[in-house]
Amino acid sequence: IQNDYVKIVEVGPRDGLQNEKQLIPAETKIELIERLANAGLPVVEVTSFVSPKWVPQMGDNKQVFTSITKRPNVGYPVLTPNRRGLDGAIEVGAQEVAMFTAVTESFNQKNTNCSTDEAIRRLAEVAQHALAQNIKVRGYVSCVLGCPYEGAVDPVKVADMAKRLYEAGCYEISLGDTIGVGTAGSTARMLEEVLKVVPAEALAVHCHDTYGQALANILKALEYGIRVVDSSVAGLGGCPYAPGAKGNVATEDVVYMLNGLGYKTNVDLDQLVDVGNWISEKLGRETNSRAGAALTVA
Ligand code: HMG
Ligand code: MG
Repeated sequence: IQNDYVKIVEVGPRDGLQNEKQLIPAETKIELIERLANAGLPVVEVTSFVSPKWVPQMGDNKQVFTSITKRPNVGYPVLTPNRRGLDGAIEVGAQEVAMFTAVTESFNQKNTNCSTDEAIRRLAEVAQHALAQNIKVRGYVSCVLGCPYEGAVDPVKVADMAKRLYEAGCYEISLGDTIGVGTAGSTARMLEEVLKVVPAEALAVHCHDTYGQALANILKALEYGIRVVDSSVAGLGGCPYAPGAKGNVATEDVVYMLNGLGYKTNVDLDQLVDVGNWISEKLGRETNSRAGAALTVA
């Protein structure tokens, strides 16, 4: 296999927890982030600097970010929707931020209370200010394989949005199947368009697993040369503005598949399974990771 390292971006502490109704103690979040980094994850998305009225679970963002013991060589990005969020991230010393926008108008309205044009304007402003301070900028495009409000999405529109984020200075653009409706077929059709305008080296895939297609879609993305995969320990998660959408693909399942394919991740699967079981227990539920459950019984 060419380029056999796959970078896993662990989004559990942010995407995984943001939809939890019960407020989770900051101590639990801090321990989760530290344990994930200790298990070998190269990037752990910590929290988001969004409005606490919109997403109360992330209201402890500053406390969580400043309390984690940070490992060298691990990235700790935070989500920032606007200047206000960026200022908060800068205040706590974040070195990487992630911006997000959707391909569809309705999702942008529901998720960030603004039009797509306004979302792009805010995003360009945030990117410009972040880059001027040597803060790395990651970009998310949501609804790349379907929108909860508008249904099917045109791959050409996805490519256009990805290109805008790339031109705004995002070093990596994560293509989000926000509601997990994609298949290997629709993933391929979407990637064919996006790869015309953004190189594979600057792309990631971010698959929610609502229809159980995430691993197949990731495998397809690997075939297209993409080497960055977002996932969430124990398959935690869901977006508050995408009703019914399930969590991200479980990190344990992704690592198990990549190990089988011969890719390197530097993630210790046993340690990761322990983290998945631990956080599931804290949340009072079974893990959503099939590999995690199997390796626990085994
Ligand atoms: P708004 O209400 O239009 O904003 O929200 P506003 O500018 O009118 O401000 C309203 C209030 O919020 C004000 O406070 C602001 O100060 C405050 P008040 O005067 O009423 O007391 N405010 C903030 N507070 C803290 N941090 C901030 C901030 N900005 C304003 N950054 C806004 C607009 C974008 C803020 C809001 O819509 C929002 O926070 N949205 C975030 C929604 C969210 O977090 N969604 C989930 C993440 S995206 C996702 O999960 C998808 C992804 O995983 C990829 C995929 O799966 O596709 C990334
Ligand atoms: Mg997501």
